[in-house]
Amino acid sequence: MNKRLWGGAFSADSLPLLQEYSNSIAFDWQLAAHDIRGSIAHVTMLGECGIISADESKQIRAGLEQLAKQVADGTIAFSIEDEDVHMNVERLLHEQIGSVAGKLHTARSRNDQVALDMHLYVREQCQNMISDIRAVQNVLLMLAEKHLEVVMPGYTHLQRAQPILFSHHLLAYFWMLERDKGRFSDCLKRANQSPLGAGALAGTTFAINRMRTAELLEFSSVYPNSLDAVSDRDFVIEFLSTSALTMTHLSRFCEEIVLWTSAEFRFLRLDDTYSTGSSIMPQKKNPDHAELIRGKSGRVYGALMSLLTTLKGLPLAYNKDMQEDKEGLFDTVKTLRGALQIMAGMLETVQVQASQMRTAAGADFSNATDMADYLAARGMPFREAHEVTAKLVAYCLENNTQLERLSIDFLKTRSALFSEDIFAALEVQTVVDRRISQGGTGTAAVKQQLVSARELMSSN
Ligand code: ARG
Repeated sequence: MNKRLWGGAFSADSLPLLQEYSNSIAFDWQLAAHDIRGSIAHVTMLGECGIISADESKQIRAGLEQLAKQVADGTIAFSIEDEDVHMNVERLLHEQIGSVAGKLHTARSRNDQVALDMHLYVREQCQNMISDIRAVQNVLLMLAEKHLEVVMPGYTHLQRAQPILFSHHLLAYFWMLERDKGRFSDCLKRANQSPLGAGALAGTTFAINRMRTAELLEFSSVYPNSLDAVSDRDFVIEFLSTSALTMTHLSRFCEEIVLWTSAEFRFLRLDDTYSTGSSIMPQKKNPDHAELIRGKSGRVYGALMSLLTTLKGLPLAYNKDMQEDKEGLFDTVKTLRGALQIMAGMLETVQVQASQMRTAAGADFSNATDMADYLAARGMPFREAHEVTAKLVAYCLENNTQLERLSIDFLKTRSALFSEDIFAALEVQTVVDRRISQGGTGTAAVKQQLVSARELMSSN
């Protein structure tokens, strides 16, 4: 016997291969709570509009609430026979309250139902991402405040360029994450529109009240066009693209953590909880988790590319291809939330090797720009100052010395503008602290940044 809910006009059972290939309950069970919540709103509205009786509405709602409890405590049992979460829920409701359950699907299609579930899910996950990002930002701020005196080399081309404050480097990630949060809240705004009531594609003959279900589900508006409502997965793409970019940021940071924990740098030491050993080399402490976050950005990019590709050739309105929107989304949520949570813990427990960083910051002529600036500030055209300094650097390299170790008499042979105060100007701390321009690395400017960052965190 055919037990599929839509099986009325079908004479054959599904082949196991087909069932296995096309079911979505294997993953969309994750939408069960959202599905039930949407159904409760729908059936409440049906009752209020007199499309079903108040008593029927009440019975169905009670059954759905019972199922919601089972979902919450993990006692609900789904079956592959019922294809997807929507039909599983309906079948279970039927088992619970009998034939009145059949009225739930009045004035609704799985097409607006699945779109609704996806909106509810994406909306919830935007909020989760925002709070997980905030947690990382809090750790970054805590570290930046605590290590304000730590100087490290700043790099371009991965070559030592100019010394900077470690806090300044950390805050760069703070601001990146701030933009990510902004993108998630932007995505949330656009996902906050209800597709429910679009029916299969064309709306419904029943006198429903779409604004009422939207209100019950806390949506700010309804889709103005039923075709668009059931065809739209832009909000999922926006979520994936924002996730992909957040993963890029975390991945860049992780790349630095991998470098900085190596013997070549020794800038950071990871807590044992966040490093792993080697099965053969007893001395090893590997930054596995940082590497994995870097590595897992690939799967999030994959989910984004996959959904863009899925949608690009689809005619309106619903097509089964759209079921492919889910696994990549669920995987992305798991990957990014995991990455953010690990990142917060890893940074919270990291040991900062301040003296190693400072030594590195003082080597390799990171103060050369400041020598050129010194000459330029005394009237030499900057291009000329650059050349005088470059020649002095070349001289130092040949004679295995540093700019700050050259004698004043020797310096004066290269330019009469040099005087004793050049040595103070070349000190690492001076080099850093003279960068007082807004957003620069000088301690005063970084303190300013910390104030803005703190303000931002307490205002949102
Ligand atoms: N499992 C389907 C999906 O995820 C639900 C919608 C099915 N609608 C349909 N007309 N077959 O997209």
